[in-house]
Amino acid sequence: MAKEGARGGTMGFPALEPRGRRDHVAGGNAVRESVVILGIETSCDETAAAIVSNEGTVLSSVISSQASLHAKYGGVVPEVASRHHLELVVPVVRESLSEAETSLDDIDAVAVTQGPGLVGALLVGLSVAKAIAWSRGLPLVPVDHLQGHVASLYLEPDPVEPPFLCLLASGGHTLLLAVRARSRSERLGTTLDDAAGEAFDKGARLLGLGYPGGAALERLARGGDPDAFRFPVARLSGLDFSFSGLKTALLYTLRDLGEEEVGRRKADLAASYQTAIVSALVGRARAASKQTGLEKIAVVGGVAANATLRAELPEARFAPLELCTDNAAMIASAARYVERLPAPGYLGIDAYASVT
Ligand SMILES: Nc1ncnc2c1ncn2[C@@H]1O[C@H](COP(=O)(O)OP(=O)(O)OP(=O)(O)O)[C@@H](O)[C@H]1O
Ligand SMILES: [Mg+2]
Repeated sequence: MAKEGARGGTMGFPALEPRGRRDHVAGGNAVRESVVILGIETSCDETAAAIVSNEGTVLSSVISSQASLHAKYGGVVPEVASRHHLELVVPVVRESLSEAETSLDDIDAVAVTQGPGLVGALLVGLSVAKAIAWSRGLPLVPVDHLQGHVASLYLEPDPVEPPFLCLLASGGHTLLLAVRARSRSERLGTTLDDAAGEAFDKGARLLGLGYPGGAALERLARGGDPDAFRFPVARLSGLDFSFSGLKTALLYTLRDLGEEEVGRRKADLAASYQTAIVSALVGRARAASKQTGLEKIAVVGGVAANATLRAELPEARFAPLELCTDNAAMIASAARYVERLPAPGYLGIDAYASVT
């Protein structure tokens, strides 16, 4: 399959020069043609590192999730997340190198999530990335986390080629993007309040399923009737989303039903609530596809793991399951289409919390 822009330099940036070294992928003694990128991701509650070749082969992807640590608080506690990133980031980077049977000697660039996310958490990854790049004389590649989610589609063995209409549905964002090239996308719509993943999490919390709740709500919904309750799908003009009314509708339904009935009908409630979120996503994605003429639809982000969404959008391409929620392989993948910063300029770059 053609890999537009997969090699250094095709997006107008200077090509990274590969160092002569053994080819770990093939396990042989051939000198590798490709350059290798170390990716680091610490924007929320996953500490992740990955080694990815410039052709988009994932040589390793290590994710240490702190989700269970935050569960008792019902959501991510920023200060707790930062402290755990501090403890985990070096072992996770070491593990990614070891799993790829490589060492820092083989790395050609260090990619890191710059934002959006929790600033304290981002700063841990950014500081480690700067330190590694500086000490090894490597370029640093600051990556936007959302571009990272989109770039999860560009990894081998079955990359998706632009142009396509991208639905990005994650814990903090719900975006519709017109992706014209691997390095270029235009925002068509966003959520006006909660993100789709947040709607899953809040619904799960109301149903007593704990945090993070998307996957748990999906599991519960499997045994339920999706038509049992009618939850509202916000009708907005244009291509924006709104999920906050849905969460309130669930809250009122639970109050009206009472504890005993809720206990009896939990699966129906989960299935109906999930259906409302999925139909909003599917409806808007198809409308955007029609409006832009971008026939190919692709879906990324944590909610892309949802089986009902996958079933309701059979014509779409979905990010591989292991790359839907946060990971560093997608960050290293995106770095292939982002300007590489030489030392010492990158030492001054800062993290950013939200999309500008
Ligand atoms: N099977 C599933 N069905 C529905 N939602 C899911 C599923 N699996 C994960 N999610 C949701 O995906 C979200 C996590 O996705 P992701 O890691 O992409 O978000 P994030 O990184 O926290 O946010 P952002 O990428 O916007 O900064 C959570 O809200 C979680 O509940
Ligand atoms: Mg994310």
